Amino acid sequence: MLASDPLRLLAAGGVVLAYLGLCFACLRPLWRRPAPPAAPGEHWVCYASQTGGAEHLARLTADALRARGETVRLAALNALDADALAACRNAWFVVSTTGDGDAPDNAQAFRRRAMQTPALLGGLDYGLVALGSRNYAHFCGFGRSLDDWLAASGAHPRFERIEVDDHDSDALTAWHDALGIAPPAVPRTPGWQSALLAERRLLNPGSAGEPVYWIELERDSREPPHWEAGDVLDVLPPADSGDDTARTYTLATLPHESDAPGPARLGLVVRAQRRPDGTPGRVSNWLASGLRPGDTVQMRLRAQPGFRIDGNRDRPLLLVGGGTGIAGLVAHLKARAETGGPPCWLVYGERNAAHDHLFERDIARWQADGALARVDAVFSRDGGAHRYVQHRLAAEADALRRWIDADGAIYVCGSRVGMAEGVDAALAEALGRDALDALAVQGRYRRDVY
Ligand SMILES: Cc1cc2nc3c(=O)[nH]c(=O)nc-3n(C[C@H](O)[C@H](O)[C@H](O)COP(=O)(O)OP(=O)(O)OC[C@H]3O[C@@H](n4cnc5c(N)ncnc54)[C@H](O)[C@@H]3O)c2cc1C
Ligand SMILES: Cc1cc2nc3c(=O)[nH]c(=O)nc-3n(C[C@H](O)[C@H](O)[C@H](O)COP(=O)(O)O)c2cc1C
Repeated sequence: MLASDPLRLLAAGGVVLAYLGLCFACLRPLWRRPAPPAAPGEHWVCYASQTGGAEHLARLTADALRARGETVRLAALNALDADALAACRNAWFVVSTTGDGDAPDNAQAFRRRAMQTPALLGGLDYGLVALGSRNYAHFCGFGRSLDDWLAASGAHPRFERIEVDDHDSDALTAWHDALGIAPPAVPRTPGWQSALLAERRLLNPGSAGEPVYWIELERDSREPPHWEAGDVLDVLPPADSGDDTARTYTLATLPHESDAPGPARLGLVVRAQRRPDGTPGRVSNWLASGLRPGDTVQMRLRAQPGFRIDGNRDRPLLLVGGGTGIAGLVAHLKARAETGGPPCWLVYGERNAAHDHLFERDIARWQADGALARVDAVFSRDGGAHRYVQHRLAAEADALRRWIDADGAIYVCGSRVGMAEGVDAALAEALGRDALDALAVQGRYRRDVY
């Protein structure tokens, strides 16, 4: 019908063009706005951090340089481009690696935009510390590729790249020595504390997948707890295992949530993992079945700035996740239900509605209260039109664009491979890769993925 009416066709074409023009006009200023040039003598401390460690070290580095009398600017790599660096004389890079040798989210846009070809950085002197872990195949992968790119761009290293394996204190001292600054007096997180297993409940009885548990820990301390939605808990393996590498779990409770007297409880959603060779994962299975109520674990709370609410308090939230990723989404929903604010849209995936509908009652309550304006639950084994959350997002591309046009922010929580990678591709397809990068730069696209 439309094609047979040239006037209507023209009008429709005009509306589409106007819409595209508006999108471009809205995004261009965000995207093209150059970073303000460096003031003479200014030191830049540039960080790339997924779970907050490198950001914290960068802040301490900036503070120490200021204490020495320097003028300092602190910025995530995503906030910079090659032109900005070209105008800078002194830069200090504090960068970690995530995924499988990947750049952290707050450096992805920089990597895509700036690091594809060498830049002209002949006037730049720099130092670089790379945070990583030798437990991963691509040790300090992103730090190394950033260092290579800086060297290929003609920048001058003041000293050889410093690589930190799992917070190795000698390497951190080498960083402070190389800059001639004092090492930090205050540790980043409170030290390890004991907590008791207070409650454990199977959340997916009859599931075709591995069991998922609600785990509640009670801190053995009366100090007021400090954490917020988006933060994580590190748990040490059992003392007799000879393994001293902490595992991280996203907090699903808020500190002041419980009406019960006594210390605040830390709520986690833990899947009893099976490794590729079929053997049980150590810490998740210990939490799931080895520990008895009243037994203790060593744990510490850790801020995860990249998944907190920060500047998104007054924005509608699109919360996307699968499996245990519900933990971080539930924490944000609890916070939103408590403080009020624009509504949320939850897109959540699991296997079967009959067994894996985690937090179904809470979700229904938030829908009834109005905190949740929309819920899309996608079950991969139930034979619906969409198997995974990324398929539902792709099918809802128009609604997604409207949500973002209404100043929305996107939070993704759960497994990186499969879920978060697929969601990232679906978001880039619906919004455009540049627009998605611009949202990340603005802190409106945040992820807690593992
Ligand atoms: C930011 C973040 C949030 C997370 N949130 C959740 C969540 O909410 N719920 C959830 O269920 N899971 C979550 N995880 C995953 C969780 O941290 C564990 O990886 C998972 O529970 C499996 O641990 P495991 O000890 O059972 O398995 P294991 O196979 O024993 O260990 C898993 C990983 O730990 C490392 N590791 C194991 N043994 C050693 C060793 N001897 N020395 C050094 N490293 C070793 C390896 O990288 C290994 O692949 C999260 C991970 C991250 C990074
Ligand atoms: C999910 C995940 C993936 C990681 N991948 C790598 C990797 O590929 N190479 C590496 O050297 N370190 C890797 N690490 C270790 C981190 O780089 C290291 O823990 C670092 O201190 C984290 O810094 P951040 O808190 O700033 O993100 C990984 C850590 C996690 C939790």
